[in-house]
Amino acid sequence: MSAIQVPTSDVKDLGLASLGKLKIEWAEAHMPVLRLVRERFTREQPLRGLRIAACLHVTTETANLVRTLQAGGAEVSLCASNPLSTQDDAAASLVADYGASVYAIKGEDDVTYYRHIEQALARHPQVTMDDGADLVTVLHTKRSELLPEVLGGTEETTTGVIRLRSMAEAGALRYPIVAVNEAMTKHFFDNRYGTGQSTIDGILRATNMLLAGRNFVVAGYGWCGRGVARRASGLGAHVIVTEVDPVRALEAVMDGYRVMPMAEAAAVGEIFVTTTGDIHAVSEKDIERLRDGAVLANSGHFNVEIDISALRRVAVSSRHMRPFVEEFVLADGRRVYLLGEGRLINLAAAEGHPAEVMDMSFANQSLSVEYLVKHGQGLNHTVCVVPIDIDREVARLKLDAMGLRIDTLTEEQARYLASWESGT
Ligand code: ADE
Repeated sequence: MSAIQVPTSDVKDLGLASLGKLKIEWAEAHMPVLRLVRERFTREQPLRGLRIAACLHVTTETANLVRTLQAGGAEVSLCASNPLSTQDDAAASLVADYGASVYAIKGEDDVTYYRHIEQALARHPQVTMDDGADLVTVLHTKRSELLPEVLGGTEETTTGVIRLRSMAEAGALRYPIVAVNEAMTKHFFDNRYGTGQSTIDGILRATNMLLAGRNFVVAGYGWCGRGVARRASGLGAHVIVTEVDPVRALEAVMDGYRVMPMAEAAAVGEIFVTTTGDIHAVSEKDIERLRDGAVLANSGHFNVEIDISALRRVAVSSRHMRPFVEEFVLADGRRVYLLGEGRLINLAAAEGHPAEVMDMSFANQSLSVEYLVKHGQGLNHTVCVVPIDIDREVARLKLDAMGLRIDTLTEEQARYLASWESGT
């Protein structure tokens, strides 16, 4: 083990554990697929003795993932994948009730955030779990002496998968990563319905604004943007989509939304949500055009989508109006409101995706770790997909848990699909 002295955990207040435990149990009741995985892991011990370092949003749902990995025999250290997403009560309970090593405090500064990553890594992981690829990056750049012990890792989010693919293409990735985000039972549901609902939840909890009748701008029409647009529209907002991809832009139009460049949307929007995964989707020029009272929120992984430095630079004053709402007054008196410091608004001001979708995401995570234990040695140092059998099994178990049954092909239908001879 490392010579550096590492505390067994660093959380805000262990006194919050009893509150956290109840919330973890509440989430568990809505995660039936993960529960089935946990029951099998308890019997079969597929992760016996495995050291896992996870860098994930520290929530009640993540707590149930950690419990599942522990039930399979793993020893888990956990740090946050975002400085503002930690639920301090869940973190406390994970330490006090479930014996995990947790390094995460809501609102931690960047120095503490990276120290926590290093502390989670100090346990010499054999498997890494990431949401955004910060842990993998620190491991490869600052703690590369630990790399020979690592057999593989998983990645939860689109941004992380993009980063890891660049690493692999540059020949820098030193072990295989399973891209959990690419599983259909992950991104179809978590990115679309999870982000859709929880982003609106975050905006509403932070502002308590009425969405009906408002011009609501969604930057980026990937799975997350589609989800946010649909939910905002359902609440009566007039949705405007901005895109750089012509196919996605066309899809947004045919889904019933207005599409225009951000330069135009900036002048009419009242609420903005960025879901592009790229920097400065709302740029300094866009900020100059905003209406008085415009609200800016981000639901992409990093706090780079809104040019916050430009906002701070052009503002003549700022003040905190409510938790997660900062007002900036511009030189001509216009007011702009930034939510949650431009960090993931669904986790900063609300509680992230509901347990029902994290159920599938984290069942994929657990089964992907088991897959790495069984097959990791034979995999190339690339980003690979979740095996289709795992993906389908998660969907099947979710349908079962929802009490839903589906049809199966008759022999005749299967034969027809496999043949090419018969036409009209
Ligand atoms: N990402 C988005 N929502 C989440 C949640 N509730 N728990 C963990 N990761 C998340």
